[in-house]
Amino acid sequence: MKAKYTFNENLSVPKHVAVIMDGNGRWAQERGKKRTEGHYEGLMALRRVAIAAHKMGVKVVTAYAFSTENWKRPLSEVNYLMTLPKSLNDDVLPDLMKNNVQVRLTGSLDGVPKVTQKYIKNAIEKTHDNTGLIVNVAFNYGSRHDIVEATKAIVDDVQSGKLTTEQIDEALFAKHLATGHLGELSDPDFLIRSSGEVRLSNYLLWELAYSEMLFVDTKWPDFDEEVFKACIGEYQHRQRRYGKTGEQIETDE
Ligand code: IPE
Ligand code: IPE
Ligand code: MG
Repeated sequence: MKAKYTFNENLSVPKHVAVIMDGNGRWAQERGKKRTEGHYEGLMALRRVAIAAHKMGVKVVTAYAFSTENWKRPLSEVNYLMTLPKSLNDDVLPDLMKNNVQVRLTGSLDGVPKVTQKYIKNAIEKTHDNTGLIVNVAFNYGSRHDIVEATKAIVDDVQSGKLTTEQIDEALFAKHLATGHLGELSDPDFLIRSSGEVRLSNYLLWELAYSEMLFVDTKWPDFDEEVFKACIGEYQHRQRRYGKTGEQIETDE
């Protein structure tokens, strides 16, 4: 990755980084390997990025691992992707434990094979008491579906009298989304998408409302500490204005 800015240890890092881990298939195909090998290497890249992020003081990495649209892929590829939570347990969890990293899920287990569910639940339980970085895996996740489900839950609460219409505000809505468990950290500060595609692919549509975004050509299996740091270096040179003027932000600082 050609980085415009380098990482600066003295500047702050984003608290919550969302990543769209894209390009596994093309990475493999370029090397004459099967797409599934790219997915396994993608998991190894997630391990490298999680440990790097933890060391840098990032609090949450939300990683898009399987979208609601990915069910449309060939059955053999879907079946392989459903085995990755086992590889996460076998090949990644020991290092995450050593680094005090927690695993969490954003997405639904509905329709996910029982054995896959078992490995996802096991990773969450095993790391539950860790207090370091949260690796929040977006699995069987689609943002529009999530927004519809949140709406249904809120309507149910209004109908049963638990909630009045007036009590519905942005904070309450956010709590009902699949990222609600992250509390005040639920909105990513920074989104990184690998592999050169410039789109959101139904990812965190509500939560990304004011996030900084970076689209890089590097394919996900090539991500490592150096590439991740270069991305964070880009973030460190952004000015987040939230509707204000640049001058206002400078006086606030
Ligand atoms: C991202 O890599 C992983 C998943 C979507 C599961 P891709 O599999 O989309 O890789 P490309 O985009 O085909 O190269
Ligand atoms: C998005 O990547 C989903 C994940 C990275 C898990 P895709 O490769 O599926 O996205 P599109 O379909 O090309 O937009
Ligand atoms: Mg892709």
